[in-house]
Amino acid sequence: MDHATLRQHFYRQLTEQYLQGELQSLYHWCVQEIEGWGRAEAYTRNENAVAPASLQRWEEVIERLGKHEPVQYIFGKAYFHGLALSVDPSVLIPRPETEELVAMVLKDHAATRLRVLDVGTGSGCIALALKNARKNWQVEGVDVSTAALATARRNASELQLDVAFREADLRDELDFTGYDVLISNPPYIPTGVEDSMDKSVLEFEPHLALFAPKEDPPYFLRRVAEIGEKCGVSDVYLETHATEEETLVTNLKSAWSGSIAVKHDLAGRPRFLHLERNK
Ligand SMILES: C[S@@+](CC[C@H](N)C(=O)[O-])C[C@H]1O[C@@H](n2cnc3c(N)ncnc32)[C@H](O)[C@@H]1O
Repeated sequence: MDHATLRQHFYRQLTEQYLQGELQSLYHWCVQEIEGWGRAEAYTRNENAVAPASLQRWEEVIERLGKHEPVQYIFGKAYFHGLALSVDPSVLIPRPETEELVAMVLKDHAATRLRVLDVGTGSGCIALALKNARKNWQVEGVDVSTAALATARRNASELQLDVAFREADLRDELDFTGYDVLISNPPYIPTGVEDSMDKSVLEFEPHLALFAPKEDPPYFLRRVAEIGEKCGVSDVYLETHATEEETLVTNLKSAWSGSIAVKHDLAGRPRFLHLERNK
């Protein structure tokens, strides 16, 4: 079989599960990972025969994609803010919106030396991206998941970034004294919306990373604000899917005495909160 035929086979097998644009992007992920070819090269290789070992890998990947397994888990890799990170099912796949949260912190704090804590760090994506951009900052990450922390540490080591990760549970009394900034993309999806979620998210990503407590969806967002308030941090940056931002701001007012600003993502949706201590 040549590569042109393999590409047709790939599209045909997955056409019911994915839109055309998604398929193109998935095909290019696979061709990069399996053959080591970028986009342009892939198109010059149409007549090349597919090696038997590659063909077996392609068939395995097509089968896994057919079951909606995220391509990032299949190849164990995700890209975030210019970094290639190892990922596995113990960590959320870093999202492009979270890159915007990182960009916001970097824009607000140019050069001054800061101590920053990423709360609910998962793969370590936020902490590592911040450290990569601001080598003079002291950046650390915490998470309740031991498995996620192992992945975050592996990423720090592979990227040679000096970020320490440790275990902490937001449900406990925590002391984050000494940090200037807390940043967090905590679990915030209310249970009960599972029917509207993509199979690839619901069936493959860790529920510990996705879902907030049923009876109190803003719980983790409020906990980060509360701990930041108690420990005297100057800023807290939060990601959420604040469809009801006014309710959320009201909820956070019980936890944070300073200002609370709702920020929008590039698609114009209210998605981030910047909590700033009164000067
Ligand atoms: C939405 S994920 C964010 C991961 C990563 N920061 C990112 O942006 O891709 C939320 C993270 O919070 C962690 N988490 C869940 N419950 C927690 C708790 N009680 N205390 C601390 N971290 C918790 C999860 O393990 C997960 O890694």
